[in-house]
Amino acid sequence: MRNAVPKSYEYIEKLMASETEMMQQARAYSQQLGLEAISISATEASLIGFQLQMINAKKVVEVGTLTGLSALYILRSLPSDGFLWTLEKSPEHVALAEKVLGNDIKAKRCKIILGDAQEKLKELSSLGPFDAIFIDGNKAAYLDYFNWADANIRVGGIIFVDNIFLAGAVWGDETQQKFNFKQINAVQTMNQQAFSSPQLNSVVIPTEEGLLLCRKIS
Ligand SMILES: C[S@@+](CC[C@H](N)C(=O)[O-])C[C@H]1O[C@@H](n2cnc3c(N)ncnc32)[C@H](O)[C@@H]1O
Repeated sequence: MRNAVPKSYEYIEKLMASETEMMQQARAYSQQLGLEAISISATEASLIGFQLQMINAKKVVEVGTLTGLSALYILRSLPSDGFLWTLEKSPEHVALAEKVLGNDIKAKRCKIILGDAQEKLKELSSLGPFDAIFIDGNKAAYLDYFNWADANIRVGGIIFVDNIFLAGAVWGDETQQKFNFKQINAVQTMNQQAFSSPQLNSVVIPTEEGLLLCRKIS
């Protein structure tokens, strides 16, 4: 849901290595769908990858695959025996993501799960606990995803949540009117829970969209 890329991001992204051909392909597919603006930025994806390496993450769950761009960044940060389960409800998005993530799927490092994430997450619980969980799906379901993540992350693992500002709607900025009451309420409650839980150490990176990081401490 980015508008123009901030100048600081442009500067940082010039310093970083260019995205791989497959990452560029994932962006091209998102553009083709008219959804390029909701793909993660290289700056934010690299920050998540950096944290994954710091905690030696091996088992990761992602909610919201789109065309597989953030999944590629996550997979790049995992060891060769790491694994990513990525959940997506749109068959059209899954078909494109399968092309982007084909090599990792063949190498048995990644599985794309088609369906509503709230339902599919329940089926994944038996494979946990997980080292990291990245939430980037349906905003109205953020609180449910977060509660599932809290219950299925290992101690020392990290929950990442993107778009927690909802373009300012969480602090009452209604100018864009992009989000409804259910979405705003879910994200506000999740944000409060992240900071009131004694079992989580939480921080918000003030990116344009707001990136929440919660480390499970007990
Ligand atoms: C912001 S995009 C994800 C972007 C992706 N993580 C990236 O940065 O490349 C959100 C995705 O969540 C998917 N989605 C929305 N509601 C969902 C649901 N109920 N279950 C699973 N996926 C859902 C959308 O179809 C969309 O592809």
